[in-house]
Amino acid sequence: MKADLLITNANQLVTAVGASDRPKIKHELADLEVIPDGAVAAAGEHILWVGPTRDLDKYLEAGPSTRKINARGKTVLPGLVDPHTHLVFAGSREHELELKLKGVPYLEILAQGGGILSTVRATQAASQQELVQIGVKYARQMLAQGTTTAEAKSGYGLSTADELKILAAIKEIDAAQPVDLVPTFLGAHAIPAEYKGNPAGYVDLVIEEMLPQAAQLAQYCDVFCEQGVFSLEQSRLILQAAQALGMKCKLHADEITPLGGAELAAELGAVSADHLLAVSDEGIRRMAERQVLAVLLPATTFYLKEPNYAPARKMIEAGVPVALATDFNPGSCPNNSLQLVMSIASLYLSMTSAEVINAVTINAAHALGRAQEIGSLEVGKKADIVIFDAHSYPYIPYRFGSNLVETVIKNGQPVMGG
Ligand code: NIG
Ligand code: FE
Repeated sequence: MKADLLITNANQLVTAVGASDRPKIKHELADLEVIPDGAVAAAGEHILWVGPTRDLDKYLEAGPSTRKINARGKTVLPGLVDPHTHLVFAGSREHELELKLKGVPYLEILAQGGGILSTVRATQAASQQELVQIGVKYARQMLAQGTTTAEAKSGYGLSTADELKILAAIKEIDAAQPVDLVPTFLGAHAIPAEYKGNPAGYVDLVIEEMLPQAAQLAQYCDVFCEQGVFSLEQSRLILQAAQALGMKCKLHADEITPLGGAELAAELGAVSADHLLAVSDEGIRRMAERQVLAVLLPATTFYLKEPNYAPARKMIEAGVPVALATDFNPGSCPNNSLQLVMSIASLYLSMTSAEVINAVTINAAHALGRAQEIGSLEVGKKADIVIFDAHSYPYIPYRFGSNLVETVIKNGQPVMGG
């Protein structure tokens, strides 16, 4: 076999291999395959071979054009997968930091026409080209921190034209830089100012006008189900309409108020329910029963200064499959580093380093329906590989706030470092 790319001598080569047809649950989440002095080879866009460096010569030939990277002393991981981001928005909201310190709650800022709605004004005013430029910048920041695939939600348009503009921008951003983007329609992110007092009218607009067009551009539909935003019943109507158009579902569920979002996600067979700080025991039970992924966003909890994190241990023990994501957005989480999320998850969700790594690789790939192609270092999968300046995988969450990424390989090509 002939390799185009060879990474050898990794102190730890973490494959994150699991069952490819379903996410890791319960004790499986702590199972992490690590090959000491490991090597990985790629041909074209795909992984050709994975194993101990000493066995390499038995199976592989290196030609004059083979690119060789010595990873001595380093840790090699599958490209990280971020299954919940609000990548496309204009402007920023650093002024809300001061309001937060004065004790103004997140939902109060929104109710006063700020928060999400202030980003909506900035995003409506931006052209598609401006959004592409901004989005490419953020996607490259994510790449530099080890993310090779990310979800990207719309949701700062809130009119048919602006929501479609954002989805079209996501497509352009995807093509313009290495991070693969999975588009999600989140037209139901807030009630726009012009529908204040008539939320049902906005729900109709989402279902009748936006969804049929968004279904051409987005793979998933998501709703911000929250007190004062979209009710459980409105969320159900929107997601059922999306399913009828062939879209898969996600839900911002039980983030601040326990409304029964987890139960709704289970009832609809959603791929994931996200946030879940206020999830009920019944919600956990139903998610486990239907194997709905819990996408946990602990950097948001941290940044909102919420006292209670999602009950990750309880969910893991109950058999709910767990993944982690950044929730990158201008209001509740202006961080786009999965490495920081790994540290916060380890400290405040009490997840072990092995669990955290499975949750940002193979389980995160499942949360985007991409686990057949990405999320682990396995023969035949895409050669999306990250080399960390870390002698062991637990060193990565340990060094919180630091970017340890040295080299990123996307589709078999070095795109950072190397
Ligand atoms: O996931 N919760 C709703 N949406 C985002 C926040 C968006 C914003 O504040 O701009 C979230 O936290
Ligand atoms: Fe979100």
